[in-house]
Amino acid sequence: MTCKIITYAIFLTFGYASAVTYQPPNSLCFPKNFFFGVATAAYQIEGAWNASGKGESIWDRYTHARPDRIFDHHNGDVTADSYHLFEEDVRMLVELGVQHYRFSISWPRILPNGLSNEINEDGIRYYMALIDELKRNDILPIVTMYHWDLPQALQDLGGWTNPIIAEYFLDYARVLFDKFGGKVRTWITINEPLSFCHGGYGGLDAPGAESSGFEDYLCGHNVLRAHGMVYQLFRDKYMDSIDYVGITLDFSWLEPATTSNADQMAAETARQFYFGWFAHPIFSKTGDYPPIMRKRIDAISKLQHFPRSRLPYFTREEIMLIHGSADFLGLNHYTTYLITKNRGNISSTPSFKADMGGIVSQKKEWPKSNSTWLKVVPWGFRKSLNWIRLAYDNPKVMVTENGMSLEKGLKDSRRINYLDGYLKALLMAVTKDNCRVYGYTYWSLMDNFEWTRGFSERFGLYEVDYVSPNKTRIARSSARYFTQLAQTRCIPTWNYTV
Ligand code: BGC
Repeated sequence: MTCKIITYAIFLTFGYASAVTYQPPNSLCFPKNFFFGVATAAYQIEGAWNASGKGESIWDRYTHARPDRIFDHHNGDVTADSYHLFEEDVRMLVELGVQHYRFSISWPRILPNGLSNEINEDGIRYYMALIDELKRNDILPIVTMYHWDLPQALQDLGGWTNPIIAEYFLDYARVLFDKFGGKVRTWITINEPLSFCHGGYGGLDAPGAESSGFEDYLCGHNVLRAHGMVYQLFRDKYMDSIDYVGITLDFSWLEPATTSNADQMAAETARQFYFGWFAHPIFSKTGDYPPIMRKRIDAISKLQHFPRSRLPYFTREEIMLIHGSADFLGLNHYTTYLITKNRGNISSTPSFKADMGGIVSQKKEWPKSNSTWLKVVPWGFRKSLNWIRLAYDNPKVMVTENGMSLEKGLKDSRRINYLDGYLKALLMAVTKDNCRVYGYTYWSLMDNFEWTRGFSERFGLYEVDYVSPNKTRIARSSARYFTQLAQTRCIPTWNYTV
């Protein structure tokens, strides 16, 4: 009954009454203290790429130098212009009634050359104003230190492939803790190392190194070292002003394509490569890389006549430093893939895919989004959460991203349908399977620059009109759905005709 009254009040406030059908409290409710929020990332929303002392990032350089690599040759120079419009963003968050907002800080906006000898005070002022505005509105800031926009000056030194990056990341983290600690009490060091190491150093994302099976492993190694060092810094010096430090990893569910033993083993190996690569060193009982990953890459490197494994080794001290270095696991989950064992010969050219040994596909009949890779498969979410529970002794998990892209348009019932399916899968994982998930974050608050896909894929609860001078944001039907979810903590019953 209380639920009903609260939601009725919300509808009156925002005038959504005609859009939703109400139900009394039901079994589709999350625990009372469950967090609901939304996420964004600096390069994707801020714009102001060279304003007020900001340095150049690898995504600035890449989109300017290689527009051919980006859909429609777009870039993030202006995008949703949140650098100037952040108050409008907070107004939307208030309208949604979310408990938290996950956003990222642009490293080169704080340290233009990547190094801490020069701090850009305008950059500090910008994030301080955003954080203060969130706090004034009782919205908890959850801040990611690194969401892919490396200072170009550090890339010129080799970026994440140069071991010295770990020290520089530590210096950057110290600046953030000093400036924002106390106000920001939950931090995520790094977003999706799999994506930017594999995509950026093994593929076509910035910086476009295209050296799979080699530089992506160097990147991953240094990411893990850097993360471990920042966690250690937090434990040593900042326990008074900061409560939690975690890392965000992406995990698509990887289902065996058939029931054959070979495909089942291939799928488990793929999970270890795609997720265990970063999760095992931090969250497993033993630390270090997953044994199967170590074994396969060592053996294949040997066959390819490398004098040593392409996957670097941690020192004993590094294993200890990284092991257990997170208070929570931030999980980004969007979709599911099928894995078939690759029976072909191992090629002499190194690659992550060859090392992993599986062929990745998706079922044609799975419902589509507007991103080629993102198919709607809610059961994969529950399976991912349970796999994590079993593999790592049920760690605390915050879902830091989940969402669906569609084309332009305010009536996004397909997005609501996606949310309905994935939230039900999550609810089952929490209430029936006892997975220790304590929060859910939708990607994204609003449409934004979708990396190499430019502005062609829209994930927002709010639509952004990029051609309007003030980048007008308009609530989609899904924003109204999310308001009800965030305020009642129950999965709304939605009238799909809207
Ligand atoms: C990334 C976001 C991205 C989203 C949708 C995640 O992998 O963290 O930056 O926009 O997926 O592709």
